Amino acid sequence: MTTAVKRVGILTAGGDAPGLNAVIRGFGKTAINHYGMELIGFRDGIKGLVENRYVDLDGAALSGILTTGGTILGTSRDKVHKYIVDGEPQNMVATVQENLEKLKIDALVMLGGGGTAKNAKQLMDVGVNVVSLPKTIDNDIAYTDTSFGFATALEIATDAIDRLHSTAHSHHRIILAEIMGHRAGWLSLGSGIAGGADIVLIPEIPYSVDSITDTIKARIARGSTFSVVAVAEGARDSKDAADFQAARLLVDAAKTPEAHRAAKTHLANVADAQREHTFKLARELEAATGLESRVTILGYVQRGGIPCAEDRILATRLGTAAADLVKAGEFGILVAARGQGTEAVPLQQVAGKVKLVPTDHDWIKTARKVGTGLGD
Ligand code: F6P
Repeated sequence: MTTAVKRVGILTAGGDAPGLNAVIRGFGKTAINHYGMELIGFRDGIKGLVENRYVDLDGAALSGILTTGGTILGTSRDKVHKYIVDGEPQNMVATVQENLEKLKIDALVMLGGGGTAKNAKQLMDVGVNVVSLPKTIDNDIAYTDTSFGFATALEIATDAIDRLHSTAHSHHRIILAEIMGHRAGWLSLGSGIAGGADIVLIPEIPYSVDSITDTIKARIARGSTFSVVAVAEGARDSKDAADFQAARLLVDAAKTPEAHRAAKTHLANVADAQREHTFKLARELEAATGLESRVTILGYVQRGGIPCAEDRILATRLGTAAADLVKAGEFGILVAARGQGTEAVPLQQVAGKVKLVPTDHDWIKTARKVGTGLGD
């Protein structure tokens, strides 16, 4: 199998992130120019695999994309084993296998986050030669030091905190910046440290409104009549965090499909009820401190636009390393970033795992030392 790889498919799946095109380019240039492989790109992630929609990627298609944001291939959040057809989930693994065989694809390179690693594992289990690469602005993929997209989003969120500082200061306001990150606090904590946020709230440390109020009042007493709060989208107060965790445990404990469906509905309702948590916190802080409070949701601005230099380098390193691994016939792996190098990590180790911020992480200790409130 080692030297047999002639034709490779590549796709981007899950939420987009800056650096996807740089990986496609890094992989493609190495695979085509150094190893004489042919490359095709599936459109819109798993959707293109299932629907057999693809485009030939040659030298010209790979030119001029290093610096561009988004993905030239398009993306989607579909799951290969729970693909929605007429509103019902269906297992499309066999269809994908058939499509890949018809196209004579020897290896499939999948750029994505945790969900994509699970999709890749499903395909690996039926014998598809898959290689996955760690993409996400959330930095929550296990067994990799970092993921491409994170550094760029960190810059964007830091820049936002910088800008919010001057306006919060001028108006003597509390400004809460809601930052992405799914259930992980990396982006909020990193940008909070870099931007000098006065308070950083992350999912890993459930917060108490009283503790945040104390921090803000202490600042007022010292003459700082404003505060900037970096709030992770997944951060919750202790009660909401406990409710959410209990609802998740119900899903895990469900023994029958009916119980599972009911638990999932309950979890969705709990999540829905907590959706406006940053606005709720702003109202609570305004009442408790007497300072006007405002919310800025950074949202998709964090995922859009050109990748920063660090992400371009990381993406190019990972993409070229993935081509080397495909050439060497190493499959069923995530191409992880490890120090200044890369490492092939078995997908069964990665799939289903999430990398949260450990509560004894150096970034947390660092934030505390400079007096940043963490809401606990
Ligand atoms: O995983 C990246 C991410 O941007 C998360 O930070 C966020 O929770 C989620 O995607 C948003 O997903 P969607 O694009 O489906 O709205």
